[in-house]
Amino acid sequence: MSAPDQYRVFGNPIAQSKSPQIHALFAQQTAQNLTYDKQLVDVDGFNAAATAFFSGGGKGLNITSPFKSDAFHFADELTERAKLAEAVNTLSVMEDGRVRGDTTDGAGLVWDLTERLGWSLHHARVLILGAGGAVRGVLEPILNAQPESVLIANRTASKAEALADRFSQCEVNGCGLSDIPAAEAFDIIINGSSASLSGASLTLPDTLYEFEQVKVYDMVYGAELTPFLKHARDAGAAEVSDGFGMLIGQAAESFRQWRGVKPDAAKAVDALRALIV
Ligand code: ATR
Repeated sequence: MSAPDQYRVFGNPIAQSKSPQIHALFAQQTAQNLTYDKQLVDVDGFNAAATAFFSGGGKGLNITSPFKSDAFHFADELTERAKLAEAVNTLSVMEDGRVRGDTTDGAGLVWDLTERLGWSLHHARVLILGAGGAVRGVLEPILNAQPESVLIANRTASKAEALADRFSQCEVNGCGLSDIPAAEAFDIIINGSSASLSGASLTLPDTLYEFEQVKVYDMVYGAELTPFLKHARDAGAAEVSDGFGMLIGQAAESFRQWRGVKPDAAKAVDALRALIV
């Protein structure tokens, strides 16, 4: 058998990354001959590390914090969705040796919402919290699923308004967190702010959770529900989910691009949650 193809994830810190376990399971599912390791990269050392990896024959990289912008600038060519996100989480060597940058976070989120959880975005009224890199990275795929409307609400209202102005596919608006209309009926609420990560609480008016079909998603995941999801559930949300499926979904989309085969991401969510969360 020929030597396995090499893949890696770059980040700083990197110890927490679950990507090697996820890709090992995908490789097993699809009988692919590859290795996937994690690498701690100096905060100023992204270009040198990526150049060394690819000149050593590496086939593809995943990029996590704080290098998604470095990877965006490193790529020889970018997908449309990476251009819109201004961030790259997947680098792939193409046949001519050039490196293509893509972002698969949005595809992972939309897969989790619509296919695994069965929460239809089509014609849905969507509320998204946050207007930072995480939200910028998922907006285009969400809009491609043709929701009826999207309201981006952020602590700093001007950032939400500026982000909303960049898109015109459907009714997309931006506002401050305190300006969310409390009587509005949203079908899907997505927390893409980093409030859950820092342990800060982000509380919405309870009336939003009383609408009978509201489903609530947090892009963050953990062993327990985030305080944001706990509150939503207790206040009456029809369904809640954390972002573990999004993590698996974005990895599956990277894997599909690199290897040309689709792993069974839904099975991986079930198999890996108990092992690695
Ligand atoms: P990320 O890459 O995780 O999106 P980011 O680009 O720094 O990180 O964006 C963080 C987002 O979480 C921003 O929308 C931020 O709001 P501001 O634009 O007002 O800073 C939001 N955020 C962070 N902490 C928050 C908190 N405690 N409450 C509400 N929003 C918060």
